Amino acid sequence: MSLNSANLLEVIILAAGKGTRMYSSTPKVLHSIAGHPLLGHVINCAMQLGAYKIHVVIGYEGEAVQAHFSTADLCWATQTEQLGTGHAVAQALPNIPDDRTVLVLYGDVPLIQPQTLKALIAARQADGISVLTVLSTDPTGLGRIVRDEKNRAVAIVEEKDANQQQKLIQETNSGILAAPAGRLRHWLATLTPKNTQGEYYLTDIIASAVADDCEVATLILEDELEVLGVNNKFQLAQLERHYQSRIAGQLMLAGVGLADPARIDVRGTLRCGRDVEIDINAIFEGEVTLGNGVHVGPNVFIKNSHIGAGTHIHANSHIEESSTAENCVIGPFARLRTGTNLDEGAKIGNFVETKKAQVGRGSKINHLSYVGDATLGENVNIGAGTITCNYDGVNKHHTTIHDGVFVGSNTALVAPVVIGKKATIGAGSTVSHDVGDEQLSVARGRQRNIDGWKRPRKK
Ligand code: UD1
Ligand code: CA
Repeated sequence: MSLNSANLLEVIILAAGKGTRMYSSTPKVLHSIAGHPLLGHVINCAMQLGAYKIHVVIGYEGEAVQAHFSTADLCWATQTEQLGTGHAVAQALPNIPDDRTVLVLYGDVPLIQPQTLKALIAARQADGISVLTVLSTDPTGLGRIVRDEKNRAVAIVEEKDANQQQKLIQETNSGILAAPAGRLRHWLATLTPKNTQGEYYLTDIIASAVADDCEVATLILEDELEVLGVNNKFQLAQLERHYQSRIAGQLMLAGVGLADPARIDVRGTLRCGRDVEIDINAIFEGEVTLGNGVHVGPNVFIKNSHIGAGTHIHANSHIEESSTAENCVIGPFARLRTGTNLDEGAKIGNFVETKKAQVGRGSKINHLSYVGDATLGENVNIGAGTITCNYDGVNKHHTTIHDGVFVGSNTALVAPVVIGKKATIGAGSTVSHDVGDEQLSVARGRQRNIDGWKRPRKK
């Protein structure tokens, strides 16, 4: 085994193909699983192997693919014409010294796990090859593993080149293999496109290796989906569900209660405390943390937010780039936009939208309101239909509401404006001047009652 020093490993990820069967102008490897491109999943996996370098072979829409990962530490190789998997590997090989171990991965096989790859590399004899294979329930379209009478893998035959007997073989090639760089270079140089597809097959190196008396080890994988490639949108959706059920399993085993593990979507990282309960159809994007005892109702969307312990989020609420302290109550049908921060025990009720809003301890915005660019102190009560008018058509302005204020229903607070401590605003007011501490402000047309009023008649 040659991997006693991990920096001898170099990974080549093949990502030059167009993905014709996706019927999309987006290159296949940029289609997403769990909100993250297929190639990104493979790169993340490769990074966990401690490889010395990760090479990505690009071709179709290569610039778009490269631009997408411009911040990652990767080596790029271009395959201008897609002449086959062997030809693709050969494009990256000039950048890799002979003494390295090369691991070949596919950019469209996103669910591969680091522990599987470590086992594959470990299965290799010194200077030999190891191939990851799988017993497929439906081997259609895949390369078949041909074994000799001693059960040694001696060749891989593509379906299109296979005879009737070979087509019956259930063991298939995942495409993933490990090989010594120097010998790989030699074998690749001997490839010819003499096959049905007229391609330079990487798989042909197996027969070359056997001819050179080189050991070919195989690792047979249990979980077919781990090496399933995405060729169309149906497979993309299948792998999405598989990925999600893996995450749901991890959450539940860590103590999170899921109403239905088949109806949760985590597109990023979800961290949960103890006794968290999540109802159906919740979607979590980016980095989300839920404190101890948080309840998430049905159809809730949360992105890049922290939810404090004991907080209840009721059905159909939408929370983005926000945070709450402990024991807050949100929704149903609340929308917390970027920069909303709730202090302990704050309450945001139905049909309330907040943005850049600091809401103090115990304050309530219970119904039908818009509060944006605002700072609310403690125990503020915002009546139904209150609007902070933060935008004058050109600039945004701030509203400050101090502790203990009571804002009557259907009030417009025209920013910039400051409402003093324990002030009261009469319902239906349009407040465009500051209000002092403990004042009552009533800013609306005075009611007139006219006796004997005759309604207009139709002519
Ligand atoms: C390949 C294997 C097959 C295996 C299957 C598993 C070969 C000849 N066949 O077949 O044995 O069972 O994968 O999914 O290797 N690519 C390039 N440049 C090319 C061709 C392909 O970068 O010129 C990339 C593709 O973008 C893709 C990967 O290589 O990521 C596999 O290519 P694909 O055409 O899907 O190979 P298969 O025909 O499925
Ligand atoms: Ca494929």
